[in-house]
Amino acid sequence: MVKNVAIIGTQWGDEGKGKIVDILSEYTDIVVRFQGGNNAGHTVKVGEDVFILHLIPSGILHPGKICVIGNGVVIDPQALLEEIDTLKKNGHFLDDSALLISEDAHLIMPYHKKLDQLKEKIKGTSKIGTTGRGIGPAYEDKVARCGIRCRDLLNDRVMREKIKKNLLEKNHLIKNILHEDGFEVYEIYHQYNEYAERIKGYITNTSLFLNQAIKNGKRILFEGAQGTLLDVDLGTYPYVTSSNTVAGEAATGSGIGPTRIERVIGITKAYTTRVGGGPFPTELNDKNGKALRLKGEEYGATTGRPRRCGWFDSVAARYSTRVNGLDGLVITKLDVLDEFDKIFISTAYKYKGSILEEFPSDSFILDECEPVYEIMNGWKSNTTDIKEFSGLPKEAQDYIRRIEELTGVEAIMISVGAKRKEAIMIKNPFEE
Ligand code: IMP
Repeated sequence: MVKNVAIIGTQWGDEGKGKIVDILSEYTDIVVRFQGGNNAGHTVKVGEDVFILHLIPSGILHPGKICVIGNGVVIDPQALLEEIDTLKKNGHFLDDSALLISEDAHLIMPYHKKLDQLKEKIKGTSKIGTTGRGIGPAYEDKVARCGIRCRDLLNDRVMREKIKKNLLEKNHLIKNILHEDGFEVYEIYHQYNEYAERIKGYITNTSLFLNQAIKNGKRILFEGAQGTLLDVDLGTYPYVTSSNTVAGEAATGSGIGPTRIERVIGITKAYTTRVGGGPFPTELNDKNGKALRLKGEEYGATTGRPRRCGWFDSVAARYSTRVNGLDGLVITKLDVLDEFDKIFISTAYKYKGSILEEFPSDSFILDECEPVYEIMNGWKSNTTDIKEFSGLPKEAQDYIRRIEELTGVEAIMISVGAKRKEAIMIKNPFEE
């Protein structure tokens, strides 16, 4: 029996991980977020209610499950508290012991948000298109060894000292170079003191907790945020987020050894989307792109921005398979393709007259790549109520089989609608 499974986005995020984590949460004891912050937006539809979770693992919608925010996450306490309040107001997360936050997770501070937005502004047309949530500057401070961590919230003196030291540098940058208003130590200190009062009960040694849970045979689901192509090392740099989004981070970002993760499942949409700037070879700026956006409701869950849409890119999917060591694929939003006559899959790229079978790691090369397409027949019928793979139209089965062939990974689940029950489970990773 498999106990520990990581769920990873294989594209540029927004693959529908929230829904899949929600489905698989039923089979686990613990759900862990291990990277990113409230730049993520995991949408889960429960009955008629829609929840968009930014920081707390989607497992929180299942009473009795423990949710962990690991050391690799960056936490905006204000956003966290808003999320807690919204959940409680809607009758969820009634037991406070269901949430554990790593003492080593870094905090997003008000100056991180300001710097994120100001830096984007001065980049002009070459901006990354960040979510403006302060994610990049918070990770910058973590690596520069001047970040403020959750454990610091528990110590008044350390907190005040660290804010003071940081503001010396940040205020100089904000006031003298970026010509904006700076921050006052006491204001941030008091604000974060108030947050600390409400958050401190959740803060603990989550690495210890998770390792003990593994020893005791508990089942754990590691919930990735964003997607492989946004990974700071392996994504389409510099058009990436500031954390590692690949499977390896499930270990580092939660304080467990990589040998403890038994299965890595990649989530991929049946087509591709991207928010923000950067190369996107299969992007469609035509009526098909519009149709995907409309039917797929492709608007950012965090920022509301329209997502760029395009066909499925198997070159990118093969790359994700390689760098994550994928054991299985979950293909989401198949129903969005229900009305198309013809469906295109990119099988390779054309670059300056030659054919590339492998995803180039250079964004500038990727930007000049043209997809080589294979054209498949659409199925022109509604798939949302289908419960078995064999019940899918033959053309839809062929499409999925072709994705499996091109990536070398088997599809273990197909999602055919937004609701929990609109999914075809072929193989449950926890029941292998
Ligand atoms: P940041 O993570 O806010 O710094 O944004 C960096 C890039 O990652 C931008 O292109 C964002 O649109 C993208 N991004 C960050 N989080 C997500 C997500 O959850 N889904 C999709 N794109 C994201």
